[in-house]
Amino acid sequence: MKRNTIRMGVIIMALAVTGVAISGDLPTPDQLPLKAELPDPLAMFEKGAKVTTKEQWEKRRRPELKHLFEHYMYGKAPKAPKVNAKVERIDKNALGGKATLKEITLTFAGIDGPKIHVLLVVPNKKGPHPVFVGMNFCGNHAVLNDPKITLNPNWMYGNRKGVKDNKATEQARGTDVEVWNIEDIIDRGYAIATFYSGDIDPDRADERGIQKYFGNEFDWSTIRAWAWGYSRVIDYLETLEDEIDTKRIIVVGHSRLGKTALLCCAFGERVALCIPHQAGCGGSGPSRPAVGNKGAESVKRINTSFPHWFNKRFKDFNEEPERLPFDQHCLIALCAPAPVLLSNAVDDKWANPDGQFALLVAADPVYKLMGSKGIAAKNMPAVGKLMDSPLGYWIRAGKHSMNRDDWQVFLDFADKHLKAK
Ligand code: GCU
Repeated sequence: MKRNTIRMGVIIMALAVTGVAISGDLPTPDQLPLKAELPDPLAMFEKGAKVTTKEQWEKRRRPELKHLFEHYMYGKAPKAPKVNAKVERIDKNALGGKATLKEITLTFAGIDGPKIHVLLVVPNKKGPHPVFVGMNFCGNHAVLNDPKITLNPNWMYGNRKGVKDNKATEQARGTDVEVWNIEDIIDRGYAIATFYSGDIDPDRADERGIQKYFGNEFDWSTIRAWAWGYSRVIDYLETLEDEIDTKRIIVVGHSRLGKTALLCCAFGERVALCIPHQAGCGGSGPSRPAVGNKGAESVKRINTSFPHWFNKRFKDFNEEPERLPFDQHCLIALCAPAPVLLSNAVDDKWANPDGQFALLVAADPVYKLMGSKGIAAKNMPAVGKLMDSPLGYWIRAGKHSMNRDDWQVFLDFADKHLKAK
């Protein structure tokens, strides 16, 4: 331990002397100090110097934190290739004439690999409209009852309705209507772009997706690859200026896809609001076991059950997650000043609802530094009562799921922060 501390000191001194920004020379996990409490998001990793201005946050601490998250947890992804879009089908009379539905295939220049199938539904009213961007678990054919939507041909989770031998069948159509509530979204004046996670990377430890088509210098995990997918869909949406208000892009995802939505918002600058729903460990929940609910998912457990979600190095924190030079409040803070709503369910202790609230409180100083109102109170709101400050929180009765009540809250939160603008 003592030796480790000395070695760590030497590395930090070397960095200080050479003036090198943190690089590939980051300490191995065992060289990092143990910290039971949440690290200060405003203290630089290198010399612990305190970040006191917006500029220091943007120019120094934010890039540093992104680098640390890539290195120790999510892995590094390649830059965006050119995105080509082919509109496959347009239905101007969707949802009884309330919306225009499009199916679009995205491909990537120079990459003969996975394609992203986007389902875009836009209100038939004068735009541009704010848009929810959300990755789905079951394919676009499941989110609406529309027999014309292309049945996704890729690998599917075997336990989902209408899936046989890991392939979607006709019976899978419309099985996620109550998860996505697209008609409510349209009625409230928002567009939605949704796409299937398995288009980018199947959720399997034994199989990679888009990663296979890029160089070995990238160690991007599945969650990192999915987040990359969100960004490519945003690239496409940015070409639709008449329909889509690109200043009001909202990313949303449930559970593992909520972890992904949060990573996308944290790493990009184009997202106006983020809703990681019941995302928990590895996303909106703490890695440090002392924070929040007992019995919540641990770093060791998630790395064992889902080794492909994070990079190899993250496994080195299984026994001592307290060595992580960040915790997930830093990922939330990277979204500042964009509003972030952490939404939860009382019975979903696995996702650590109490710990998630503690992370919002810990991210608050960064939001304040960025000129945001941050969090409204230091105590969790009552069950069923939305705390709609920019760092927002919602917990409802019930269990792990995404449902119509959740969407009403997502829409209220989005209205509050984006509608007036
Ligand atoms: C598992 C996993 C969670 C994840 C969830 C989901 O429960 O342990 O980390 O959020 O699956 O994606 O539904």
